[in-house]
Amino acid sequence: MSNNRESDVAALLRPDPDGISAAVAILRAGGLVAFPTETVYGLGADARRGDAVLSVYAAKDRPRGNPLIIHVADLQAAMEIGEFNSQAEQLARAFWPGPLTLVLPHRTDSGVTREAVAGLPTVAIRVPAHRAAQMLLTALHGPMAGPSANPSGRVSPTKAIHVLADLGSRIKAVVDGGACAVGLESTIVGFGADGPMLLREGGVVRSEIEDILQVSLRELPPSRRPVAPGSFDRHYAPASHLRINAESPEPGECWLGFGPEPDGIRHAVAARNLSLAGNTAEAAQGLYACIRELDMVLGGRGRISVRTIPDDGFGAAVNDRLRRAAAPRS
Ligand code: TXA
Ligand code: MG
Repeated sequence: MSNNRESDVAALLRPDPDGISAAVAILRAGGLVAFPTETVYGLGADARRGDAVLSVYAAKDRPRGNPLIIHVADLQAAMEIGEFNSQAEQLARAFWPGPLTLVLPHRTDSGVTREAVAGLPTVAIRVPAHRAAQMLLTALHGPMAGPSANPSGRVSPTKAIHVLADLGSRIKAVVDGGACAVGLESTIVGFGADGPMLLREGGVVRSEIEDILQVSLRELPPSRRPVAPGSFDRHYAPASHLRINAESPEPGECWLGFGPEPDGIRHAVAARNLSLAGNTAEAAQGLYACIRELDMVLGGRGRISVRTIPDDGFGAAVNDRLRRAAAPRS
């Protein structure tokens, strides 16, 4: 199925049996359907179809060497795609369904196309918890490739309307499952010869994983990182510039606060607060939507200053995204 003509707009489907049937019909025909997960919205394609998977890369303008996460309904389906070691199985049992992605050796008989894994010998697998995602995967009865449903390098979508705004003319439909509860992408864990590695901070906090495995997670040195958009220096970025670790806004800036507001907030063109109570989970949930709104106020041509956010809890993942969003344009 070809992508939409520029004049076409994606259908907004309800997360009920009729909406899910319509979504599955599109996926089976090789079309693209955006779907809600508890982290962010994904851009779904049948992972067994090379043509469908290639149109995901095209819709996002994503480099082809950048593998996609494969979504499945449960651990049993995941085991048909990846080779689980005992630590991977422990993590799957502790956090699935949920905001965790595991990178594992790819089984040759998985049915997932080479395009989806960008020719790598490994595969990233996730079992999402969102009810609509579960309905979709169960009805599709197969693996679904699903990168975040945003143009490559830009802010991820946490509401159906974000997907429509960014990709509405390039995809067939969006299943509207409301605002994402976690608001940041999944945590990604891989396994090397020396043990488990944290490949991306996200919806499961690092210490929770270390508590289950009873080991510290290693980080990959930057030189050994796979070509992954989430590990590019500039990513998750709005069109406006971001000034992070700010104490208060300068005149002309938009302000993204955290905790009690500074006096200087009166200088801001517009302001949002990620969590007046200073809660990092609440900050994660609203982060992308707030950045999108302030970017819109500025017409993509101004500056957003962001209050310092502590690294505890979800703060580490929030700060990772803010640093990448603020990185200089190459
Ligand atoms: O929460 C999420 O993970 C969302 C929802 C939709 O599931 N998906 C998501 O996908 O964030 P994406 O494509 O935006 O980010 C996936 C990351 C990329 O950085 C990609 O390079 C990396 O996972 N990745 C995929 N396969 C990999 C592999 N075999 N080895 C290392 N990294 C991999
Ligand atoms: Mg992404």
